[in-house]
Amino acid sequence: MPAISRKGQLMPESPIRKLVPYAEDAKLRGIDVIHLNIGQPDIKTPKQALDAVKNNTIEVLAYSRTEGSETYRKKLSDYYEKQQIQVTHNDILVTTGGSEALSFAMGSIADAQDEIIIPEPFYANYNGFATAMGIRVTPVLSRIENNFALPPIEEFEKLITNKTRAILICNPGNPTGYLYTKTEIQKLALLVKKYNLFLVADEVYREFTYDGKEHYSILQEKGLEEHAIVIDSVSKRYSMCGARIGCLVTKNKEVIKTALKFAQARLSPPTYAQIASEAALETPPEYFKEVIEEYVERRDLLITELNKIEGVIVGRPHGAFYCIAQLPIADADHFAQWLLEKYDLNGETVMVAPAAGFYATEGMGKNQIRIAYVLKKERLKKAVQILKEALKTYRAL
Ligand SMILES: Cc1ncc(COP(=O)(O)O)c(C=O)c1O
Repeated sequence: MPAISRKGQLMPESPIRKLVPYAEDAKLRGIDVIHLNIGQPDIKTPKQALDAVKNNTIEVLAYSRTEGSETYRKKLSDYYEKQQIQVTHNDILVTTGGSEALSFAMGSIADAQDEIIIPEPFYANYNGFATAMGIRVTPVLSRIENNFALPPIEEFEKLITNKTRAILICNPGNPTGYLYTKTEIQKLALLVKKYNLFLVADEVYREFTYDGKEHYSILQEKGLEEHAIVIDSVSKRYSMCGARIGCLVTKNKEVIKTALKFAQARLSPPTYAQIASEAALETPPEYFKEVIEEYVERRDLLITELNKIEGVIVGRPHGAFYCIAQLPIADADHFAQWLLEKYDLNGETVMVAPAAGFYATEGMGKNQIRIAYVLKKERLKKAVQILKEALKTYRAL
């Protein structure tokens, strides 16, 4: 058989993909698997977005412009204005999901063997995009003990080499739920200016901030115009993961020009989905108010219930809809598989994401799991109850 590329062999598997067959088997055995592992919101997509697709009169479903439709980008710049971010439609490149924006960003700023520093644990697909481009991820450890706050700036500084091209952060964070403060962003801003690096911020969870805390975008930071690249998406904001629309936003003209060349190779972002995303911008503020209230209640319930389990350590996330929980076990990969293969409580079990896959450093996060609180409260409560009982059984094995 002809050989598979080295790059292909190196491509990491999703940290939860390997557990899917066990979940499928459990379901075949009649077990109800409660998914704490998935970041797919159960919130309804705004009606305006769905109606815009249903009611349009397109006769030829044509390509759109490579950079995305002009009306959509103009309305997007109005949206950013409301977030205290001053950009024009020319600073925005519409992409097929935030995922594509991430790969265009990496492709535009780093070559094979170049390095990007990322606080870990991080969104596992950063590894995938970096590997696809031959870029090296240099992790800098953030810790559960201080809620996964920004690691000391000296730790970043120690890792900078002549191959370093960028620092990438996720704000608010998946999988940590950590929301960076303005001061933390300003520390990073000073650092990237000092070493002439890019600062890439994945802000796809921008709206999901709690306890009165406000999101501070890197695009709000003065003097960072040439360095800042924002990754954005409608997937979580409007519960429109299937639309596959995101964007890359930067004031750096060279980056936009370069990303556009990557975009030209894939011709255009999806047309219907841009129509839906444009209409979604009309979503009334009450929608977000309700959604945020719901997530706060879920988070509070989840954290309260997890804290009742002996030996569990969990931070208090102020954003997104994930948290990392440290369990009183040695190997969360084994535990997660055991939950699906060997355990049920009255016909129910839970699927969790072992956190090791969110770290780049070998051995880190082995006793941690990531939980997504995208389930209704009753089901979430039940899931934690199952986890509690399962831990008792597992530890007695
Ligand atoms: C942190 C983060 N960035 C980017 C993405 C990619 O989202 P999409 O490609 O659906 O816009 C996700 C999806 O879960 C995410 O969690």
